[in-house]
Formats: sequence, C-alpha cells, structure tokens
Amino acid sequence: IGSVEDVQAMLNELGITEPLPTYEVASVTTNPIDIFRSYIAEEMHKITGVNRDIVYPALEWTQQMEKGDLIMAVPRLRIKGDPKALAADWVAKFPENQYILPPEADNQFIKFFFNPKTLARLTIPSILSKGTRYGANHSGAGKKALIEFSSVNIAKPFHAGHLRSTIIGAFLSNLYEYCDWKVIKMNYLGDWGKQFGLLAVEYEESGSEEKLNEDPIQHLFELYVKANSKAKAEEEKIKAGEVLEGESMNDKARAYFKKMEDGEPNALALWKRFRDLSIVKCEKVYARLNIRFDIYSGESQVAADTMAKASQIMEDKGISENSEGAKIVDFVKHGYKKLGKAIIQKKDGTTLYLTRDIGAAMERYETYNFDTMIYVVSSQQDLHLQQLFAILKLMGQDFVSKCVHINFGLVAGMKTRSGEVVFLDSILDEVGEAMHEVMKKNEEKYKQVENPEEVADTIGKSAIMIQDMTGKRINNYPFDIKRMTSFEGDTGPYLQYAHARLCSILRKANIPMPLIHTADLSLITEPQAILLLRTLAQFPDVITNTLKTNEPTTIVNYLFKMTQILSSSYEVVKVVGSEEDVARARMALFESARTVLSNAMKLLGLTPVERM
Ligand code: ARG
Repeated sequence: IGSVEDVQAMLNELGITEPLPTYEVASVTTNPIDIFRSYIAEEMHKITGVNRDIVYPALEWTQQMEKGDLIMAVPRLRIKGDPKALAADWVAKFPENQYILPPEADNQFIKFFFNPKTLARLTIPSILSKGTRYGANHSGAGKKALIEFSSVNIAKPFHAGHLRSTIIGAFLSNLYEYCDWKVIKMNYLGDWGKQFGLLAVEYEESGSEEKLNEDPIQHLFELYVKANSKAKAEEEKIKAGEVLEGESMNDKARAYFKKMEDGEPNALALWKRFRDLSIVKCEKVYARLNIRFDIYSGESQVAADTMAKASQIMEDKGISENSEGAKIVDFVKHGYKKLGKAIIQKKDGTTLYLTRDIGAAMERYETYNFDTMIYVVSSQQDLHLQQLFAILKLMGQDFVSKCVHINFGLVAGMKTRSGEVVFLDSILDEVGEAMHEVMKKNEEKYKQVENPEEVADTIGKSAIMIQDMTGKRINNYPFDIKRMTSFEGDTGPYLQYAHARLCSILRKANIPMPLIHTADLSLITEPQAILLLRTLAQFPDVITNTLKTNEPTTIVNYLFKMTQILSSSYEVVKVVGSEEDVARARMALFESARTVLSNAMKLLGLTPVERM
C-alpha cells in the first residue's frame, strides 16, 4: 500500500466502490484509520451539513476500546439543538456500508466501530508490507529539528538528571527521525566554568597522567571530590575567622578559569585533554544505549564574539544593567514577574552558564536554521530556561518561538553499591547483573538462551528505560531495581518477554513468510483477535499523538495495553495445532503484533530480543 491508488484498489476489492474522499489532513497511505475517518467524515458532513473541516477532526481516537474505534462528541459540530436527540437522529440516518458497523448513539456521543473484516484487510497487509516503517509518517519532511540532550558535565558527576535527559532525548530523536524530520543530535557538554579551574588546580597538585588516560571520567571525578572537599574545608576556616596561608582553592580556581577565558594556551591545553578524553569515554557508554551524537558541542564552544554581540544588543535595548560592576537582567522590569534577576556577566568580566546559553542558541540558529530546537533538561532548570527564552525574546531573536524546553522530574535513590555517586556505566552494569540473577531463576528457559549475559544486559537496559518512560515526564519516581527487573507488571522485561514470545510462536508455527502475507484474513473472527487487530490499527495515531505530547508514556502506555490484549488472546487464538488456513491468518495477526511491538520498542530505544 504505497499510493492512494493502491488504497482505492484495495477498497474496491472489499466492495467499497464510493471513491475515497480526499481530506488534506488525512494520511491514508500511512494510517489505515484515516481511511475510515475520511468516509465517516464525508457521511457526517452530508447528514449534518457541517463543514468537512470541522467534522473530520471531531472524529477522535479513543483510549478504551469499548468507546468505539472513533468517537464524536456532537457539541463539537456546533449545531443548535439537543445533542442527545441529534446523536440519535444522525445515527439513524447513517447509511449502511462496508466500512463500519451501524454507529451507536450514546448520550451526546456517537461511537463508530470499524467493520472488522474491512479493518483486517486494510491494516494487516499494511503492517506486513511496511514492516519497520509501519507507524511512521512524513509530517517532518523537509524540516529540521535540533535536539539537545544528555549534556553531561565533564568536571562534575553524572546524575539521574543526565540519565533521564539521555533516555528521553534519544527517544525524541528516534521519534522525529521516524517521522521524516532531519534530526541533529547535540550533546552540549558542561565543559566550561569555574569548576574547571578547581579541577585543573587539583590535577596539578595530585593528578595522575596514567589514571587520566585509563579512566578519565573516574579520575576527574576523584579530583573533583578532593578539590571540593578542600575548598569546603577552607571556607569553613574562613567563616570561623581563620586566615589562610596563601591563596584558597577557590581563588586559585577563579584565577585559572580567568586564564582559560582569556585564552591562555597552557590553561587551555590541559582543559582540552580533559575534554577530549572524556568524550571518548562518553561515546563508549552512549554506544551501549545505541546512541550516537552528531555533535559534541559545549559551553566552551560558544564564541566570545557571539557573547559580546549578545551583550551589546542587551545593552542597546536596555535589557541589561550594571550592578556593582557586574551586568544583570532584572526580569521584573521587563514584565516577567516570576523570573527574578539574573547575572549575565561577573565583575571580573567572565561569563556564566546563562550567558553561554544565550550565545549558544544564537549560534545554533545561525548554523542550523532549525525548525524546532528541543532542550531536554530537568525541571530543576525550568527557571534557567525561562530566563533564557525571555532574554532571547527581549533581544528580538524571533527563532525563540521555535525553542522548546522538554522537562522532567527527579529520580530518587539512584545509587550503586559503591555509594551515592553514579556513573552511567555502573548503573547499566548493575541492573544487567540483577537481570541476570532474575533470569537464572527459571532454569529451563535459562538453559536455552545462547548468550545469557548479553541478553541480560539488553533486558536490563530495557528495564531502566521503561521505568523511566512509564509515567509522565514531569513525575518524580524512585529508582527501584527490584521492581524494574520484574517480569510482571508494567516493566521493560515484560515487554521483552512479550516480544520473545511472539518470536517463539513464529518459530514454532514454521509457516513461510509468503504464506503469512497471503493469508485469508476473513478467518480472523474471535473477539480477542479482533480486539487485538483494532489496537494494532491505532499505532499510527499513537505516533501522531506522541509528536504532540512529546511524552514517551504515550507510546509506553499503548504498548502495555496492546501486550495485555495480546497475552489474553493466546488462550483462544491458537496458531500451533490449528487448521492450516486459520493458522496462517492468525500468524499474520501475530506477526503484525510483533512488528508493532518491535517498532515501538526501537523508538523507545530498546533492542527487542528474540529469545530470553
Ligand atoms: N550541563 C548541564 C547540567 O548538567 C545541562 C545543560 C542543559 N542544556 C543547556 N543548554 N543549558 O546541569
């Protein structure tokens, strides 16, 4: 089913001879439900006389299957009269047809149920022929999205916020790419600032060349901890009235950072080594999650010129003001009551996190001319991003309307055995090991897995990701290894199990693929099978919705619903042991379910396993 003509031909075969009505917003070649929408909208338009463009979007997707495949709230058509009576009247007038069952009036709603035979013929071949592309659409064709995510700090520890940004950002990248956006994946490293001075000072005192080469992230972290505890101890002394001998850590760090900002070669050379080695290590860890960034940018990469230019605009437009030698923006004066004040330049002339973000945004627009730029950053930085967007707006940088902050809540209790601090690598290891232990409990199955460690690692990663994406982004959640590695409930391992089971049915049934593709779909008749079919048909709509919500849970929730319907169908809808024609048709349905599950899992960043 590649073209509208193909769709029309298929409809003719099904005895639907009326030409497919054309609606600009319908994607009949990528979304089978849009075919039904088009026909229903056309009839409803004829019956009610309401404008086609109002009728079409009023046909809404349902969460619960008993509400119909599509539902229309009568008041949405804005016609005078009692909605309940209108619903009854219109339902009675709806002509008999091949595509839907007689519509049902329910209070002020009209429920539409698709004709299962038609649905099967329109959906299953579409899934089987589109394969990995079933669910995708072309809504992003010709458009560019810059997605900034993960954005770890080189001189500070990795934390749960980075994990979430990584997971959600990778997901959004996959989703937008799936819908034909050109996606630029950017990691905006925290690779600049006073903390770098602190790190360099400590490195000069107690650093080790060898350790740095071996595991830069670990070593830099050790130095970070040392330097900070020294600085803290000094501060306490100062507070207690003691006079320090020589310069304090903080003073030295500030001086060092000033040298970096002034472009002093020696200071920069050390910093660059830290940065380069950290990137190499990061790339390895991201690869474990199937993530590859197009660009490692970072706070250090923002040109001084750009920031000077920004500073000039802010001054000329009266956005910034001097305050005790520093430059600040008082947002309240500019009509942003809740944004307080922010420093954009320190007394010593050095820049800040916010200053660099202003410059970075301008450079990105100039370089990439994006249609949307997404910042995947914790909700702890809501204020920061609001300030950033407000400044860009005040500066007259119109591209700010294309910038979006995708935020998320906190993770509680993410720590490894070795303590509070976590590295992405060790989280993945630890959950993988826990998963391995869970798998070992089922000896029978465990014996059949060829490479149990690798499978455990893959399922472990699914466990972490699904736990992260189950709730709405903004919700906080506890990091709970025991729960996430369970095969029961709404977990990653459960989805992996569902996929492996479908693969196993396919193996056992041993029906050649061409025979599955040409199965007689009218043999799909059991209510459970039809329920599953109706759910599979929703997948393209789920993708469209997800592009609106930017919420991974829109897909995750759908998957849990779909896999539950799937697992309760096995009892009734048997493949192995059924008569050949029936087995072929049922296998076509299950292969469709596997395709949808696999496509969705991959979008979420999971690697579906075939055995476990
Ligand atoms: N590196 C920052 C942190 O770890 C996050 C950066 C977010 N992105 C941005 N453009 N400010 O807190």
